[in-house]
Amino acid sequence: MRHLISLKEQTREDILEILAIAKKLKAKRTAGEAVDILHNQTLLMLFQKTSTRTRLSFEAGMTELGGHAIYIDSRNTQLSLCDFRDEIQAIMRYGQVLMFRALKASDVEVAASFNKIPVIDACSEKYHPCQALADILTMSEYSNGIENVKKITWLGIENNVSNTLKLACAKLGIEVAIAAPEANAPSVDAELNQMCEATGKVKKVLNLKEALAGTDYVHTDTWIDMEFFKDGKVIPEYQAEYDRRLAAFKPYQINANMVDTYAPNARIMHCMPCHVGYEISRDAIDHKNSVIYNQAENRMHMQKAVILWLFEKKV
Ligand code: CP
Repeated sequence: MRHLISLKEQTREDILEILAIAKKLKAKRTAGEAVDILHNQTLLMLFQKTSTRTRLSFEAGMTELGGHAIYIDSRNTQLSLCDFRDEIQAIMRYGQVLMFRALKASDVEVAASFNKIPVIDACSEKYHPCQALADILTMSEYSNGIENVKKITWLGIENNVSNTLKLACAKLGIEVAIAAPEANAPSVDAELNQMCEATGKVKKVLNLKEALAGTDYVHTDTWIDMEFFKDGKVIPEYQAEYDRRLAAFKPYQINANMVDTYAPNARIMHCMPCHVGYEISRDAIDHKNSVIYNQAENRMHMQKAVILWLFEKKV
């Protein structure tokens, strides 16, 4: 049985196959041709954290595939009252595929270990494989083929999103420059880092000019915590950490001046939600090179492809 957990388990060929499915699905949708082949199939969507894009893209995607999606907010379930292993085994009896936005990647792995239905990590503290695959689709579109993408640059903090993106890119032979002074500690996966290192494609490059030289895409994600704020002001107990992060990460903010100076041909990407004025500036979001809204739309085309790939269905 196939699962989508971290992209460690997917080969280069798997990634290319999922990409090809997504492209076909998107072309058919653009042509007004329905691909509604999942009648009477249910996607279980279990969320332990909030979401805009992941929920909408999976739910809309499953509708378009002719199936049904059930949104499960874990706070409205009995999950906190009992053994996770019992409750998740019961949950999986009600559908044919589970997507799980989990607090802990290890819980996604537990769900998959029962091997009853395909399980998708829909963003845990360590991985965000659906985001990485959707970003591969976006880059493939803007470069007329993923084989034409030679280099990407990740700016800010290393985290769950950068983990899966760098691994996917490394497997596809794309050079990845990591311009990030720190890694988010809970996201660190030594095995994944070793896999990336073994490809020789992923390099830590803190010098911005060098990191951005010749890059095709610049990516970032949040390094500020919204819990630091109340009524638009920093809560006093978080002030020291807020100041520390600002000093550490602000030099790596994507802004129009940075792009225009060091990478004028690079496309600007952000998985969203954006924290304007922190990891990205307003003039970068609105920059002519920005592709972030198409990037968000592609989540849906890719979620559909992931579900069909897990079911080993052809389109
Ligand atoms: N990028 C992403 O996963 O967005 P959401 O958190 O809104 O789902």
